[in-house]
Amino acid sequence: MRGRKAPEAIPKVARNAATKQSKKRLLRFARNDALENDNMKIIDTIPRMSTLVKMLKKEGKSIGFVPTMGYLHEGHLSLFKTAKKHTDLVVVSIFVNPIQFGPKEDIDKYPRDFKRDEELSRSAGVDVIFYPSEKDMYPENYKTFVFVEGLTETLCGISRPGHFKGVTTVVAKLFNIVRPDMAYFGQKDAQQAVIIKKMVKDLNMDIDVKVLGIVREKDGLAMSSRNVYLSPDERKDAAILYKSLTKAESLIKAGERETKKITKMMEETIQKTPTAKIDYISIVDTGNLKDVNVISGEILIALAVFIGKTRLIDNIIVKV
Ligand code: PAJ
Repeated sequence: MRGRKAPEAIPKVARNAATKQSKKRLLRFARNDALENDNMKIIDTIPRMSTLVKMLKKEGKSIGFVPTMGYLHEGHLSLFKTAKKHTDLVVVSIFVNPIQFGPKEDIDKYPRDFKRDEELSRSAGVDVIFYPSEKDMYPENYKTFVFVEGLTETLCGISRPGHFKGVTTVVAKLFNIVRPDMAYFGQKDAQQAVIIKKMVKDLNMDIDVKVLGIVREKDGLAMSSRNVYLSPDERKDAAILYKSLTKAESLIKAGERETKKITKMMEETIQKTPTAKIDYISIVDTGNLKDVNVISGEILIALAVFIGKTRLIDNIIVKV
C-alpha cells in the first residue's frame, strides 16, 4: 500500500494548501508586526503569538518573558528592563487570570489600565505585549490544570486555597505559547517564585527562571498593583510590613536565632497599627518553605497582613 494515494488524500492536500496559505499570511503579519518595525506590538490572540514565536525561533532570536496581570509599576518594569539586557526580544503578558482568584476575591475590582500599561511597557523597551482574552485562554470545557504539591499548601496557600494551582496553570500555558528562553519573576511573590521554579524543574521545561529583587516605595512599602486600594491613611500604615521585616532582620543580626521570639516581636510591632490585621508571619527555609525553629543559613521571613480590606504581602531573605 505504501506509495499509493488513498482516495481521501486529495481533499486533505487541498486542506493543507489552505492552511499553508493562512500560515503564510500569519507569518507576514508577524514579520511586519514585530521585526521590520521597531515599535512595540500588541498581540491579542494565541495563534498570532504562536506564529510570531515560531518565526523568532527560526531566526535564532532569544525570548525573555515576563508574565503579569497588568496595572504596571516600577516592580514590573525592573523585570522588563533586566529581560531586555539578557535577551533579543522581551515579551510581556498582561492577563488578569481568573482561576487564581478565590470565590471571595473580587477579580472585577482588580485594577486595570491597558493604555497606561502600554505606555509604561514601551518606555521600558518591551517588544511585544501579549494580551489574550479570557475566552482564548480558557475556552468552554477547559479541563487541564498544573498543580505543584507541598510548596503550595503553606504561607499564602492557607488563606488562598487553589490560588497557586491557578498561577501554575496559567504560567505553564503562557510558557507553552511564548516558549521563552528566560522568564522573569519578582521576589515580591517569594512563594510563587519557588513554586514556578519547581514546576519548571519537575516538568523539564527548558526555561531559565530568574527571580529579581523587590522594588519598594520610599517608605519601604513593596510596590504592588493592589496598593491603589489603600486610602491615604492606610497607605501610611502599610509601611509597617517592611518596618517589621527590617526589625526582625536587625534582631537576627544582633544574634537572636529563635524564630518564635522574632515572630512575636513582629506581631507586637504590627498590632500597634490599628488598621492592620495579621494573616500570617512565618520564618521558613528559602528552598522548601518549611517552618524553621532555629535560624541557620538562609531563611525567608514572609508575611501577609490586611491593611483595612487590602491584603498585602512582603518578605525578606536573611543569611546568618
Ligand atoms: P503580578 O502581580 O502582575 O506580578 C507580575 C510579576 O511582577 C511577578 O513575578 C511579581 O513577583 C513581580 N512583582 C510585583 N511587584 C513587584 C515588586 N515590587 N518588585 C519586584 N517584582 C515585583 O504575579 C502575578 O502577576 C501573577 O500571579 C502571574 C505570575 C502573572 C500569573 O498570573
